[in-house]
Amino acid sequence: MSADKQNKDKKELDKKTMLRTPKGMHDILPVDWLWWDRVQDVSRRLTDFYGFSRIETPILEFAELFQENLGESTDVVQKEMYTFATKGGEVLALRPEGTAPVVRAYLQHSLSKTAALQKMYYQSRMFRHENPQAGRYRQFSQIGLEIVGGTSDPLYDAQIMLIFDRLLKELKIKGVQLKINSMGCRICRPIYKRQLQSYYKDHLKELCEDCVRRFETNPLRLLDCKQATCAPLKVDAPNFFDKLCSPCSAHLKMVLEYLEELSIPYALDNQLVRGFDYYSRTVFEFFAETPGHKFGALPAGGRYDYLIESFGGRPTPAVGGAVGIERLIDVMKAQEMQLPNRASCKVFVVHVGEQAKKRSLGILEELRTAGITARDALSRESLKAQMRTADREGAILAVILGQREIFEKSIIIRDLGNGLQETVPLDRMIEEVKKRLKNSHE
Ligand code: HAM
Repeated sequence: MSADKQNKDKKELDKKTMLRTPKGMHDILPVDWLWWDRVQDVSRRLTDFYGFSRIETPILEFAELFQENLGESTDVVQKEMYTFATKGGEVLALRPEGTAPVVRAYLQHSLSKTAALQKMYYQSRMFRHENPQAGRYRQFSQIGLEIVGGTSDPLYDAQIMLIFDRLLKELKIKGVQLKINSMGCRICRPIYKRQLQSYYKDHLKELCEDCVRRFETNPLRLLDCKQATCAPLKVDAPNFFDKLCSPCSAHLKMVLEYLEELSIPYALDNQLVRGFDYYSRTVFEFFAETPGHKFGALPAGGRYDYLIESFGGRPTPAVGGAVGIERLIDVMKAQEMQLPNRASCKVFVVHVGEQAKKRSLGILEELRTAGITARDALSRESLKAQMRTADREGAILAVILGQREIFEKSIIIRDLGNGLQETVPLDRMIEEVKKRLKNSHE
């Protein structure tokens, strides 16, 4: 092949690549925002109601922050971080999760001095170099909640689950299941780990490669393996519930009592293990039924009473959780949920003729100032095309302005539901529009 042809082919290829997002990353197009706004609006209302304040940390952090605090043997640290050296020689990472950065910010800004208990939430982008599939992306957004400080009161564990339960309910997600486990504490967990190791010691040959590694580094994660060779071994593995020390057992019992009090159904799952090592005591994951699809956990999280200490801070209890927004939307769509079209367009401004077109700009402003959502199709001249757009936008009324109306200082108000219309004086337009909109709601 000639050098010219090779260069041309390469250019073609470069052009094609340039027109694609990187694998596992997506544009959020105007049509998608209907879903995003819905999820973000509901979560914002809930976090406000329960007294959470927003926090936003940088997308980039020192890679060490995650390497030291998420668990050396975790998949995220081992395989999924986007890490790079800057021109200045710093090693940074695109944040793969939000808890470690929030704790870093809590300590960096001495937030404990402003209030002993901090309730924080974030809606932030995360990055994990995972194998993309339904509900699993390389760039995704999480809604996260973190309660840091105060006491290790099980009430806070329940409150985090309560808010996520309400989020799923308000989003009308069906078939929700909440799974709960306890990771114990510094006293009972090492004992349980040893028991797990002694059970799995006799099955080392049957374990997958990852689990052989986990056997040494973090035997609890053996319970989380989905490989066909490892999964059956879980059945006879020792049960953590029998080994919890009495304070951990009492803590779990109180969490469950609060959930019962709040009428939140749950299932205890002694094999639920989370992907990060910072958890102690409560861990939880919400799932939703989506026949034919497998999306993984929706909100998920737990208590992390030792994390602040491991950053060098004072022992500080903390609990939290996060949910992937894309995954929530995938589930809503898989459950064939319909979102109402942006009902926000109440009035459509229609013009006939050049002069009316000019005057329409002022009419739109009058409507906007009066707090009435209105749209137009000023680029379209034909009345028919404008009326079709009004229909598509779901407008309730059309206000129509032509030569005659300009001359008479009037405007036509047309009810797009029943087709009835009336000409009213222009200076009474707002009043008349409001009256009709009010009637259309009754
Ligand atoms: P996580 O389980 O890694 O926990 O992520 C929480 C949620 O984020 C998942 O249940 C899922 O809904 C969503 N998610 C995770 N990875 C992806 C992905 N690749 N694509 C789409 N969605 C994804 C954490 O990140 C902890 N920081 C949660 C936490 C907060 N624990 C205590 N506080």
